[in-house]
Amino acid sequence: MNLLLLGSGGREHALAWKIKQSPKVNNLFIAPGNAGTAREGVNVDISATDFESLKAFALANNIGMVVVGPEDPLVKGIYDFFRDDPALQHIPVIGPSRQGAQMEGSKDFAKAFMQRHHIPTARYRSVAASNREEGDAFLASLVPPYVLKADGLAAGKGVLIIDSLEEAQKELAEMLAGKFGDAGRTVVIEEFLKGIECSVFVLTDGTDYRILPVAKDYKRIGEGDTGLNTGGMGAVSPVPFAGKTFMEKVENRIIRPTVDGLKAEGIDYKGFIFFGLINVGGEPFVIEYNCRMGDPETEAVMLRIDSDLVELLEGVAAGRLGECLLTEDPRAAATVMLVSGGYPGAYEKDKPISGLAGDLPCGTVIFHAGSRASGGETLTNGGRVLAVSSRGDSLPEALAHSYRAIHSIHFDKMYYRADIGKDLQE
Ligand code: AMP
Ligand code: GLY
Repeated sequence: MNLLLLGSGGREHALAWKIKQSPKVNNLFIAPGNAGTAREGVNVDISATDFESLKAFALANNIGMVVVGPEDPLVKGIYDFFRDDPALQHIPVIGPSRQGAQMEGSKDFAKAFMQRHHIPTARYRSVAASNREEGDAFLASLVPPYVLKADGLAAGKGVLIIDSLEEAQKELAEMLAGKFGDAGRTVVIEEFLKGIECSVFVLTDGTDYRILPVAKDYKRIGEGDTGLNTGGMGAVSPVPFAGKTFMEKVENRIIRPTVDGLKAEGIDYKGFIFFGLINVGGEPFVIEYNCRMGDPETEAVMLRIDSDLVELLEGVAAGRLGECLLTEDPRAAATVMLVSGGYPGAYEKDKPISGLAGDLPCGTVIFHAGSRASGGETLTNGGRVLAVSSRGDSLPEALAHSYRAIHSIHFDKMYYRADIGKDLQE
């Protein structure tokens, strides 16, 4: 089969790396890809949201499956676009329908869904300009800090956590007035939950599901999880606190009701569901749903899947995932992200990267997040540049392999966090 993967980050490099290992794949294409995905398959210079060009490419290259990495094409309806076009109907798209992608695309939709299906999540109120007073009153009924979320996609910037009530009410007014554009015309106000977060991923065919290895990501730029939010500075898998008892609760209270709820509501969902969870005193709550895999969690998770991923994806497409097994590698995996100096603020691009060709410690794979090839060189091409990912018999060993590999890699103003996974080892 020829497979087309959409996206251009570290997540897509990790997916491409795993997909390429399948004997079922003849040709792997990545649109648009990066310098790392070019090592696993053929990059195609088409944007992941240019559906008409993707259609022409898919038909011309006998594509047998499309795997969608990022949320944008899903929220814009790529699944529906293929399903509803007679020329494309035979090509399965791994990812939910436009309606299913609303689980990520609209926080209000996701919260109402959880409420309908009694899935544990923070108490909330959805507010628009017409009922702002209700929002102010709800804020006043909560204890600080206050959580405000723009309803729509806001490039990871739409969640505010604010200590003072006055400030929260002021922010609410500004969001409703258009601070985040249309994404914030509806705001979800939530009760703050105190706990430790983890990321749970499942693959579903709409009826059955398989749970992927659990991961934890590190979102802030600074050590000790301080400073600005980023796209993710590292990830580890497995997560010690997400043991058997916790995961049984997650499966019974969250995963199964979600998959059953989607089905009962007639929402077409064949793809990955990402549950952003928080562990509050041993009890799991949903912080958010995403309609895709996480980044950088994927870079660690793919190292821990033994099964042929493409076989599982075929099971999803055919609605027979119940017959497929997902086997985990019992070893640990750790990803450390190398980023451009200044990120997540302003940063420079086009810095030559050295040390990529050297010998790597056993079990280390360097996934490219933001890079491009130019002449014989690889240049930085984004804030997050490389996801240095390793396996090890234990989490400390996996981390040690990644940090050792980093010593030989260099680009001007390179920065990384030296404390990935540390909080789980204390
Ligand atoms: P989200 O985009 O919904 O995942 O929110 C971004 C981050 O804000 C999450 O990863 C959490 O760290 C934090 N967060 C969101 N909602 C809450 C909440 N109700 N209680 C505590 N922290 C939250
Ligand atoms: N790592 C969090 C995300 O992908 O949204």
